[in-house]
Amino acid sequence: MSQNTLAGRDCLRLLDLTPEEFALVLDTAAQQKAAWKDGVHDAPCAGKSVAIIMEKPSLRTRSSFEIGTYRLGAHPLVLDDDHSAFSRGETVQDTTLVLERFVDAIVLRTYEQAKLVEVAQWASIPVINALSDDFHPCQGLADALTIREHKGTLAGLTIAYVGDGNNMAHTYLEMGVLAGMNVKLAFPAIHAPSSVVVAECEKIAPMTGATIELTNDPRGAVAGADVVITDTWTSMGDEDEHDQRLAEFEGFQVNAELMALAADDAIFMHCLPAHRGEEVTDEVMDAPCSVIFDEAENRLHAQKALLSLVMEAR
Ligand code: CP
Ligand code: NVA
Repeated sequence: MSQNTLAGRDCLRLLDLTPEEFALVLDTAAQQKAAWKDGVHDAPCAGKSVAIIMEKPSLRTRSSFEIGTYRLGAHPLVLDDDHSAFSRGETVQDTTLVLERFVDAIVLRTYEQAKLVEVAQWASIPVINALSDDFHPCQGLADALTIREHKGTLAGLTIAYVGDGNNMAHTYLEMGVLAGMNVKLAFPAIHAPSSVVVAECEKIAPMTGATIELTNDPRGAVAGADVVITDTWTSMGDEDEHDQRLAEFEGFQVNAELMALAADDAIFMHCLPAHRGEEVTDEVMDAPCSVIFDEAENRLHAQKALLSLVMEAR
């Protein structure tokens, strides 16, 4: 195994990792997943604790972090109500400096990326982003693991993301450039991804052989793609805009007609929760090419690997 340069580190976005570190997390996840399924249930993080703070709703992230922490032999401390962390006007500084006296890593789902950055600045323990308005790195790791399982590789594959230029679009851009993929993002012009994130990814792409294409044409993006991926048009926090967004994303639904343009052996992915009938049809969600539940399961394996690597003694 390569040297673990991730010990003690934060993961606030995928670009916090080098391409080698990104691959190390995937390799570790694959190895831990196989071992667990073979009945090898060792506990590399016995005696440790992880604070899992959820400031937005969650099914997959909360469950997979809680169970993953338990499977590592560590104690998951879930703070997901309005009465614990960051809820009483206590500063981020004081909250973080208290928490790190109890736990060995902090997992935080929140709104602003700046809050994660601030927690990480105060914390002497690893901080992991469990989704912010800008990034969802753990989902990117799980999705890369899933693509690798189904396609045998990542480098050179074409991934087409169709939808909102949101936290998932940013994450797939970062995932793609770290893995040397051809990333195509199709979005309505008024829902473009951050130009700053795009520029950061464009800088890294030549180092890994990745390519990036931004378009407002979903059909062009999907043509010949190996992976077709979408996300909700109404992210957490956007609920008031739901009806307006339905109109703004017209023509961006992933349906059987759009999927037919992809490679014959293309897979369909969605981080979930999906709004069936909006960004994707039932027909695609439930098709044999859909790997959405493998993708959901891999949240557990990817995050377990990440946690075990960042919590390893330096
Ligand atoms: N994909 C994902 O993060 O799901 P949850 O919002 O349910 O955690
Ligand atoms: N873009 C979605 C992802 C949910 C996992 C959101 O932020 O709500």
